[in-house]
Amino acid sequence: MTCSRVIGTGSYLPEKILTNSDLERMVDTNDEWIRSRTGICERRIAADDQFTCDLAEQASLRAIEAAGIKNTDIDLIIVATTTADQVFPSTACLLQHRLGIEGPPAFDVQAVCAGFMFALDVADKFIRTGSARCALVVGAETFSRIIDWTDRRTCILFGDGAGAVILKADNSPGILSTHIHSDGKYKDLLCVPVGVSKNYNLVQQGKAYTTMEGGEVFRWAVTAMSDIIEEALVANNMDKEQIDWLVPHQANIRIINAVGKRAKIPSEKVVITVNRHGNTSAASVPLALDEAVRDGRIVSGQYILLEGFGGGFSWGSALIKM
Ligand code: ACO
Repeated sequence: MTCSRVIGTGSYLPEKILTNSDLERMVDTNDEWIRSRTGICERRIAADDQFTCDLAEQASLRAIEAAGIKNTDIDLIIVATTTADQVFPSTACLLQHRLGIEGPPAFDVQAVCAGFMFALDVADKFIRTGSARCALVVGAETFSRIIDWTDRRTCILFGDGAGAVILKADNSPGILSTHIHSDGKYKDLLCVPVGVSKNYNLVQQGKAYTTMEGGEVFRWAVTAMSDIIEEALVANNMDKEQIDWLVPHQANIRIINAVGKRAKIPSEKVVITVNRHGNTSAASVPLALDEAVRDGRIVSGQYILLEGFGGGFSWGSALIKM
């Protein structure tokens, strides 16, 4: 049976660092509050002339190099993003052109902070069904563009970045299973309530901002991200002790710690980047994955559980043998 295997990872962070001290000068907050409530110390912010596709391109080039393939070997491109460069064409099409690839399908997936898990699920199914043999899967965001930088409840949380993986068809997995879910009844708890079709006047005024019921989101994130660990383990008839690394969505260290505690996965097995990246939405999981691959924590043969949670609500996981 054909399966998909991760053969390369890459990531990119914009140069500009926004520290908690910087935020103290922008809103009524302080470093101690941000660290203790979120674990975040700093986050990256894209330059004014840097767009999501620019970040995606750099992460993709690094993943392609790590995989040792040519750009033209890629026959599927999926970009998970909430902050597409343009309404259309998709960021995936823009990226495809940058990479000099012509012909194979390229499209975006929008599931906010769970976007990379959704993109991975789709790419895995393309490969399993023989519709693709070498997929570039990217999570990329300039989330700073949909933040109200005068709202202390949200602006301290988010950052910009991109991560990418190359999936290749193989006879053995690879991706053991993927699991994705959504429940739209929670649509108002975490959202940007305007767009090109609704309340466009607010977009024109530059007021397309993220709004959030932080406490509710927190509770739901812990429950969903704990349950989905169990779902992935049961689907593969595996025990939590067999998981070498948990790579969770990086929204808040308290969410990550609570999930680890509920799922009984020790903190030494959890990859953490939220302190330096903040919440980069769809980019957070592939960024953390790439960091742990490049610093030698994640190595071939290990079992890795990736998971994401975001607006919608939408949430998902992937259990991978590296
Ligand atoms: N600095 C100082 N004080 C603040 C700040 C701040 N930046 N923000 C809020 N406060 C104040 C509040 O006004 C409140 O004051 P009050 O008691 O006088 O009213 C007090 O701090 C406590 O506020 P809470 O909202 O209860 O603080 P909480 O401990 O819940 O932490 C937080 C808030 C960090 C937002 C938390 O709820 C959280 O992380 N939620 C999940 C958010 C998340 O993960 N979102 C992204 C999901 S992924 C996606 O799809 C994008």
